[in-house]
Amino acid sequence: MSTLKILTFENEILHKVCKPVVHFDENLWNLLDDMKQTLLSKEGAGLAAPQVGVLKRAFIVYVNNDFFEVINPKIIKTSGTQCEQEGCLSIPGKYAKVTRPKFVIVEFVDRFGNKITLSGNDFLARAICHENDHLNGILYTDLLKGKK
Ligand code: CO
Repeated sequence: MSTLKILTFENEILHKVCKPVVHFDENLWNLLDDMKQTLLSKEGAGLAAPQVGVLKRAFIVYVNNDFFEVINPKIIKTSGTQCEQEGCLSIPGKYAKVTRPKFVIVEFVDRFGNKITLSGNDFLARAICHENDHLNGILYTDLLKGKK
């Protein structure tokens, strides 16, 4: 395992739409393992593949001591709203309040391609939405535009 370099917001890769994962092989597993080590080294709540330069629809979240590997996610239900302080490992040292759903249900597959449905509230819901946005080239700062 190795710690990967995290790209910052100036990098155009972070503003691109990622492609679905089709191969559930050692390349993917190594990427996920390296992303986990990278996330743990930064004490972040989540990390998406494009943040380490890989335009694939995969992210990890580490919330309330639960660790999830989320591949090819689809948010199938949201409800409520919350507005809490948010940061991003690709925008170091900055934080802002972002409005997100209070509850989400997301369908995805794990590293072996097994289908999983996960529901999350509050911080987990926010982390899932934040990381899912990364797969569509959206940073939380994009959600603040025009909100001054
Ligand atoms: Co982020």
